[in-house]
Amino acid sequence: VAYAGVWQPPPGLLGNFPHLQAIFSLGAGVDHVTNDPALPRVPIVRIVDPDLTMRMSEYVALHVLMYHRRQRLYDAQQHERVWREHDQPPASEVAVGVMGLGVLGRDAAALLLRLGFRVAGWSRSLKALPGIETFHGPGGLEGFLRRTEILVCLLPATPATAAILTLDLFRKLKGDGAASGAYLINAGRGALQVDADIVAALDEGSLCGATLDVFPTEPLPPASPLWRHPKVTITPHNAAASDPRPLVANILRQIQRFEAGLPLDHVVNRGAGY
Ligand SMILES: NC(=O)c1ccc[n+]([C@@H]2O[C@H](COP(=O)([O-])OP(=O)(O)OC[C@H]3O[C@@H](n4cnc5c(N)ncnc54)[C@H](OP(=O)(O)O)[C@@H]3O)[C@@H](O)[C@H]2O)c1
Repeated sequence: VAYAGVWQPPPGLLGNFPHLQAIFSLGAGVDHVTNDPALPRVPIVRIVDPDLTMRMSEYVALHVLMYHRRQRLYDAQQHERVWREHDQPPASEVAVGVMGLGVLGRDAAALLLRLGFRVAGWSRSLKALPGIETFHGPGGLEGFLRRTEILVCLLPATPATAAILTLDLFRKLKGDGAASGAYLINAGRGALQVDADIVAALDEGSLCGATLDVFPTEPLPPASPLWRHPKVTITPHNAAASDPRPLVANILRQIQRFEAGLPLDHVVNRGAGY
């Protein structure tokens, strides 16, 4: 076996293939591969695919617009046969912040910009993106949060991002802006968030709503209070489910290039963990 395409391989499994030349993650994230302490020292390649990127941007736009247009309130009104219109600020007054300006974060941010929002992003290294206010590093986080009303998280799970989404962080979001409160959309990884802190933030009002696609424990256990929380929207880690057809074509193309002596694209930086 020279190449392995994997999703959550059992730890130790890949060490059994002495001829392995590359590991392909069957998803954009690689934490399910890098958490194997016995991982062979071969390149880890992650999926970068326009189909997957588009699906994630759809998800982000859907949920940002859901909060912006107060769709959950109108759903509740419909249930009660209530015909009542609420004030609607223009998107140009609403500040959306995207954590992670990688392949997915940049595309989502560009789409949100096109929809008219005030968009900012936060990444590890300095970025310059047209129309998007950028912040970076631990020193840039506070300023990014203070101006953000709708927080979209598209970070990878690494030691540096573990449990970054805490009550303390939610309290720094801008709650008195045009959106009339702060909102969280996490479609990155469950390891980024502390579920109990999300519930606490929703209950005290530092968050007014949360869309969660990912959880520290998946599937989300039936006993989790998130399931029935009136301000929570849950999806089963399918914000950008990978379609196997483009994914396989993508991996085969990479193998062909590699065997022709060309470098692999989208190789993971093992030190950084993404
Ligand atoms: N829910 C789903 O269905 C689904 C589907 C696909 C992917 N995902 C998740 O989405 C994640 C992002 O995917 P991607 O393709 O956009 O990844 P990517 O291209 O590797 O981008 C990662 C971004 O996160 C930033 N970052 C990493 N560590 C950071 C830190 N400590 N502080 C601040 N910023 C940090 C990076 O900063 P730099 O730009 O400075 O390097 C980069 O901008 C994946 O890792 C995966 O977990 C979820």
